Amino acid sequence: MTDDPSNAFRAVMRRVPTGVTIVTTVVDGKPKGFTANAFASVSAAPPMILICVNRQARSHPLIAAAGHFCVNVLRLDQRELAERFASHANDDPFADVAYRIDRSGSPVFDDALAYLDCELSAEHAAGTHTIFIGNVLGCAARDGSPLGYFNGSYRDFQCTIP
Ligand SMILES: Cc1cc2nc3c(=O)[nH]c(=O)nc-3n(C[C@H](O)[C@H](O)[C@H](O)COP(=O)(O)O)c2cc1C
Repeated sequence: MTDDPSNAFRAVMRRVPTGVTIVTTVVDGKPKGFTANAFASVSAAPPMILICVNRQARSHPLIAAAGHFCVNVLRLDQRELAERFASHANDDPFADVAYRIDRSGSPVFDDALAYLDCELSAEHAAGTHTIFIGNVLGCAARDGSPLGYFNGSYRDFQCTIP
């Protein structure tokens, strides 16, 4: 434990397990994506979700400009994609990624565990981030295990507690 509130906050959030997604969009015909785990369901009927995007991220103005995005939920064996899209090292991170453009105009990964294709419906500034709220235009899921994230590391959450 620590007395610094922001350190305490980080310590708490590190202990919250999440899945891992790649949020994609398209601007001027060029796909863009980044790794994100600040993602949550907002409403089931109508289906709405939110993502939190750092204003420093290159993707931030692109999502706002495009007006659409897709949340691609990664499979357990897609850690390399998570690392790639969290880094600025690769000039063409989509090079070997099979995807299609779905209804909103955003890239949907062929091999994602699940996806939510969204049109941007609202933006709320919040601290260092913007909360982007999306109306879900299309979504689908397949069987499989998700890539997990906990305490700063990628995880395998496959075990069911009996
Ligand atoms: C597991 C993981 C989860 C992340 N979640 C988010 C997130 O929810 N929102 C965000 O703005 N950045 C998040 N990031 C950081 C971005 O992926 C990273 O800053 C990326 O380089 C941004 O790319 P861009 O500047 O090309 O848009 C996360 C990184 C990792 C490794």
